[in-house]
Amino acid sequence: MIDKINDLIDRVKAFQPKAAQEIEDFRIRMMGKKGELNAIFEEFKTVAPELKRELGQRINELKTLTAERINELRDRFAEQESADGPAIDMTRPGSADDLGSRHPISLVRNEIVEIFSRMGYTVADGPEIEDDWHVFSALNFPPEHPARDMQDTFFIEKNPDILLRTHTSSIQVRTMEHQKPPIRVICPGRVFRNEAISARAHCIFHQVEGLYVDENVSFADLKQSILYFAKEMFGESSTIRLRPSYFPFTEPSAEVDVSCNLCGGKGCNVCKHTGWLEIMGCGMVDPAVLEASGIDPAKYSGFAFGMGIERIAMLKFGVRDLRLYFENDVRFLHQFDSVIG
Ligand code: DAH
Repeated sequence: MIDKINDLIDRVKAFQPKAAQEIEDFRIRMMGKKGELNAIFEEFKTVAPELKRELGQRINELKTLTAERINELRDRFAEQESADGPAIDMTRPGSADDLGSRHPISLVRNEIVEIFSRMGYTVADGPEIEDDWHVFSALNFPPEHPARDMQDTFFIEKNPDILLRTHTSSIQVRTMEHQKPPIRVICPGRVFRNEAISARAHCIFHQVEGLYVDENVSFADLKQSILYFAKEMFGESSTIRLRPSYFPFTEPSAEVDVSCNLCGGKGCNVCKHTGWLEIMGCGMVDPAVLEASGIDPAKYSGFAFGMGIERIAMLKFGVRDLRLYFENDVRFLHQFDSVIG
């Protein structure tokens, strides 16, 4: 029996597993219910009393050695695994991340800015949370004037002087307050109105404002600049027409229509059979607005225009419902980056 115990001690010392699973198999073989150790204990019961002392000690040695060896091997394998990291399958195909695309509103905004920058305009910015002066008063909307009703917005109850801007025309005022003519700025931005959301209206949308102030700026300059823009945006064959209109901050004022690029002016559903699509408002900056912003109207004149980016994008892409721009459905959004940009 002593030979058997010594043999087992040698085997435990020599045991060199190649994988963690082998340690567990070894443990079961040695220390499991039907393992070698239990067999030895069984046999031990039958040995002569005078041999028990020596054999018992040796068996205990075997038992501790086996337990220690197993623990030591387990630790070694655990350390190695955390150093190597989890096993990596180098042959597995990679998982590609979906590439995003630019939002159609950003694409059109960028194109508008590019077109006007070719005419020497630079981009000006202003805050979305504005005050009454920059959104209304300086632009010739006196308090209680009915023109304010066309642009209802969101006010701060505690201080009704603070509001969300209804148009980017507020940036005109900020620019003129800080810059002396010649001024040539294009002002893209987000605007807010208290409107029920529908296919044609939203409480949040985007505009681009333009302002040109210098000596001797005339209505002819305005018309030519907008014609250039229309041709660049909607195609060389596009033409424009101006219809008299009213804005508190321009005099005279006009609405600009571009010839319908879908039917070539013959008349279709989109242009409601008129052959024309409305794209922006414009006019000569009212002398009172120049004066309010610290510019001498006797010396300088200017023109301004403002357009909704959603509207331009709808006409350009043939999109019929404004809400699509805000729903973030990638099936919709992915369609535009190949068209421009
Ligand atoms: N601010 C006007 C609006 O939101 C758009 C506009 C019209 C801007 C005429 C202008 C302009 O600068 O001259 O309805």
